[in-house]
Amino acid sequence: MAKPKLMIVVGSVREGRIAEPIANWVRDAATADGRFGIDLVDLKELALPMMAEPNHPRARKYTKQHTIEWSQRVEAADAFIFAFPEYNHSYSPAIKNALDYLALEWDRKPVGFVNWGGNSGGTRAQAALKPVVAALGMVLTHGLIEINFPGTHLADGVFTPNEQQANVLQLMLDELVTLDETLSPLR
Ligand SMILES: Cc1cc2nc3c(=O)[nH]c(=O)nc-3n(C[C@H](O)[C@H](O)[C@H](O)COP(=O)(O)O)c2cc1C
Repeated sequence: MAKPKLMIVVGSVREGRIAEPIANWVRDAATADGRFGIDLVDLKELALPMMAEPNHPRARKYTKQHTIEWSQRVEAADAFIFAFPEYNHSYSPAIKNALDYLALEWDRKPVGFVNWGGNSGGTRAQAALKPVVAALGMVLTHGLIEINFPGTHLADGVFTPNEQQANVLQLMLDELVTLDETLSPLR
């Protein structure tokens, strides 16, 4: 049987973002885990303009090539990890824009969040995106990751998690496997 495909989304697009090394840590851990096919999506490279489709995404009447390609890529994924920062007590706009472009492609699929920020560790960004993914029919893992001041875990462009963060990521991967098994018949 084919491995479930895990899409890891780099949810910040600004110059000098820490999202990239954090997402690389997640990708390397998921690759070492061995249970997934991995698709790392960098929203900076994807470069979707602000939501520009004329029709509601549930109609799937996409008019732009970038949307058709994004739809096919998300449709092919079985599970997700969204890595995104806290901006002004909420989520980054890039992650919301990427979600809003599509609808049914996200439905009945599991997702885990990896967040970061200052003292809060990105908990407000995390809380703000929960109702968004619920509206899209996604199912959130129990295990979620918050990272305080992630720059202090960075050396030569490599993010090194503490033991607790590494453990929770492993639990998240376990949950994504079991949730995918449970949810895939409902798609
Ligand atoms: C526009 C902006 C707003 C921010 N607002 C918050 C905030 O509300 N809470 C917080 O903990 N950190 C905040 N930060 C700090 C970010 O968490 C920190 O810069 C982090 O590196 C951003 O992730 P990125 O580097 O992947 O973009 C903010 C940063 C920016 C650029």
